[in-house]
Amino acid sequence: MNRKYLIAGNWKMNKTSDEAAELVREIVQTVGQQMDVEVVVCPPFTALSAVAPLLEGATVKLGAQNMHPSASGAFTGEISAEMLRSHFSSYVILGHSERRSLFGETDASVNEKVRAAIKNQLKPILCVGETLEEREANETLSVIERQLEGGLKDVDGEATVGLVVAYEPVWAIGTGKVASPEQAQEVHAFIRGWLKTRFSESVSQKMRLLYGGSMKPSNAQELLTQTDIDGGLIGGAALDANSFIDLVTAAREQG
Ligand code: 13P
Repeated sequence: MNRKYLIAGNWKMNKTSDEAAELVREIVQTVGQQMDVEVVVCPPFTALSAVAPLLEGATVKLGAQNMHPSASGAFTGEISAEMLRSHFSSYVILGHSERRSLFGETDASVNEKVRAAIKNQLKPILCVGETLEEREANETLSVIERQLEGGLKDVDGEATVGLVVAYEPVWAIGTGKVASPEQAQEVHAFIRGWLKTRFSESVSQKMRLLYGGSMKPSNAQELLTQTDIDGGLIGGAALDANSFIDLVTAAREQG
């Protein structure tokens, strides 16, 4: 199965609209026409409208970092799927570990968001990952299984088209401590096996599984050559045009 690599930048709470536009211009200039690798940028909400027009005519796609599952209503500070669509977002990151640990998101609330995103033609990038404590207690695979089961509850096979799962070990996020290619591959293979049992062989072979956690140009190749790693969800290294472009290049070289 030939899955197209996906390199997505999660900018987190970084970049004003002007800074975002500057970064996107550089990305588009260098990798904005290639089709070998799918490239997605996920700026903060406030920069979506500055970034969207710069992606017109380019192959780079836009994503958001979170959303509320409801269509509208009294949810101060929240953003709906329709609002994201109106800003030309195609993807939305859901269940990031920072949202889970700092903002109280649970598998159940992540699941509501996943289903709302799919209903609104947004492609979820569902994040899963264990903490250091869980890894040391040998609970990695059971944690991942619980997050997949919870996050994808009541999602049927047809709805998985375009859905992406990102494995982000919490201990590797922003720490400079990257999972070894073997550690990452073990979890990715587990996720693919789980998808096969839960959905089908065909769904599991089509779905892209990203690795996230201190991924950068210097470690990209060894991760991307693993059988079940189909790209990266990049934090820190996505904030600099050169390193993000180098990551896209690393994925193109594998493609
Ligand atoms: P870093 O690449 O900064 O470790 O962040 C990874 C991440 O959380 C992407 O969603």
